[in-house]
Amino acid sequence: MSNADNWQGDVLRDLRGGGPAGQAATPHVPPGQGQAPARPGAPHTPTDPAPQAPPSSGQAQNSSPAHGPAHSGTRPARTPESRPAVDPSLAGASRKPRNGEPFTIRAARAIWRTVSSSVAREVAEISGIAETLQRPVTTGRQIAVTSIRGGAGKSTVAALLGSTYAHYRQDPVLFVEADPALGSLPIRLGAESLRWTTGDVAGIVQPQMSLLDITGYLVQLRNNAWLLPGSQGQIGAMLDFRSYERVMVALRRYFGVTVVDCETLPAEVARVALTASQACVLTTPATLDGIASTHAVLQWMRGLTPHVISGTVVVLTDLSPHSGINTDEAVRTLRSAGPSVHILPYDRHLADGGAIRTDLLARSTRTAATRIAADAFRLSQKRH
Ligand SMILES: Nc1ncnc2c1ncn2[C@@H]1O[C@H](COP(=O)(O)OP(=O)(O)OP(=O)(O)O)[C@@H](O)[C@H]1O
Ligand SMILES: [Mg+2]
Repeated sequence: MSNADNWQGDVLRDLRGGGPAGQAATPHVPPGQGQAPARPGAPHTPTDPAPQAPPSSGQAQNSSPAHGPAHSGTRPARTPESRPAVDPSLAGASRKPRNGEPFTIRAARAIWRTVSSSVAREVAEISGIAETLQRPVTTGRQIAVTSIRGGAGKSTVAALLGSTYAHYRQDPVLFVEADPALGSLPIRLGAESLRWTTGDVAGIVQPQMSLLDITGYLVQLRNNAWLLPGSQGQIGAMLDFRSYERVMVALRRYFGVTVVDCETLPAEVARVALTASQACVLTTPATLDGIASTHAVLQWMRGLTPHVISGTVVVLTDLSPHSGINTDEAVRTLRSAGPSVHILPYDRHLADGGAIRTDLLARSTRTAATRIAADAFRLSQKRH
């Protein structure tokens, strides 16, 4: 991979202090500790750290953006306090996370794998998918996840896709929550505390900011993955489509892949996301009415702009263990409208809600998520 092809990877190395000169990055604020990045002119709350507080570990950190002398953007009137993603009083409500599939199935598969000749074929397919997912990009790819109904699996699919990109790729990956009404993406991603939101960052982001500046407003999830939440979990947060556009245009150059968890169609932000992103994932419950309404929406999307449907992946999510529909037939019907179609199987671990632990996902879920991620990424590379 040439340097020119892997610009985000280079930026990321610099961010971790592994730049060509081998110098450490500027000290910055640790992630997940709810500390505000220093914004010149921003009012500091009593809990704000000093602008250049040192990191607490050697990992990539949230930064204290060292902004230029003046930023002319409309800033939020306040520096928000950080809030826990899940109310601490609810901590006792969750059980021990379950494996995505029962033990008997895992055991039977282990035996099958030792005698099956299709293992080699499977390995070859996985290598092909990994190669697709690792392809370098010259400009950031933005992938919007939406649906036409609530509870169709958007946040779950967005979390699975972004985690897959972060696993396979070297460059920075961003999750954007563009569904501020009590969205569950931060919980799915295991974020502990939330501070700056998509709406806040719309008023802050400036062209001259570095990745280091930007990450100071984000929740760091792992070395190369960040989250921009839609709200701090309160009711009534808003995001207008202009703020959404501003954030997405501004952040595109910093991140190799951005996955957006949108609200349901036909809300305005979701419509803008559909046409402005490089690929779209439409989730639908694997039920008769879910499939019928998604089919209708695909017809509507055909009329939007011709390229939208060719950049769309439909994901049928199996929300119950014993689905009563003929999924093969459903896939065929939806494919006839133009998009690529996949099934995300029922998974006990996903059904339980809460933070997704990829090691607990059923094998079929992991395989499906990886295929969907590769397909969406491949389609996103066809658009500018
Ligand atoms: N593959 C799956 N297997 C089992 N349960 C699933 C699966 N995918 C999603 N779910 C469950 O379905 C429910 C809805 O999922 P999710 O919150 O991702 O949908 P959403 O479209 O983001 O909802 P909203 O419109 O409220 O934002 C959740 O309880 C989730 O745990
Ligand atoms: Mg959601």
